[in-house]
Amino acid sequence: MKIYYAAASPFVRKCLVAATELGLRDRIELVAAAAHPINRDRNVVAHNPLGKIPTLITDDGDVLYDSRVICEYLNTLGDGHLIPREAKARFGVLVEQALADGVMDAAVLARYETFARPEALRWKDWIGGQLEKVNSGLDLLESRATGFGDRADLGAIAFGCMLGYLDFRFASLNWRDGRPNAAAWFERFGARDSMMATRPA
Ligand code: BEZ
Repeated sequence: MKIYYAAASPFVRKCLVAATELGLRDRIELVAAAAHPINRDRNVVAHNPLGKIPTLITDDGDVLYDSRVICEYLNTLGDGHLIPREAKARFGVLVEQALADGVMDAAVLARYETFARPEALRWKDWIGGQLEKVNSGLDLLESRATGFGDRADLGAIAFGCMLGYLDFRFASLNWRDGRPNAAAWFERFGARDSMMATRPA
């Protein structure tokens, strides 16, 4: 398999952490791709009209995106332990992934607003709106993190990649302030081999 990737993308990281936790990492070749909302990477567009990463090409030549579909595929290829089978637990984990993905989406949009948008077109309130979503998501994580224990399912992986991205691009947000439970959980989860091996430089 090969995956179009950029090390800075938290969505790519989620897929690579999932692959590592499933023992599949060695089967995935990394293909560097330019991740930009306007100047799309034509090599990715050739496979995925959205031009977004991660995009995975399976050994059969099938093209899979987005990160949720890729993680579900990897889980099926592996022993399936990242997504519970029982309905209540399953949808709990999938909603956690949706929340973490939503926070990552908001954070990436806020990042693009300063990194990619010309200064004259920037809208401060819009960035503020995205960061409000980030903070609301963090508050929900804080209220649940004491019960996480040593979970390493897809919900935990998504939360881990979310916090890793905030550390990477939004250090000044100081998300740990007033959120000791999430901070303590991430201290442990972030030390996993799968997370250490995928830290954005
Ligand atoms: C970033 O550089 O922050 C980034 C790169 C790729 C996807 C999302 C974010």
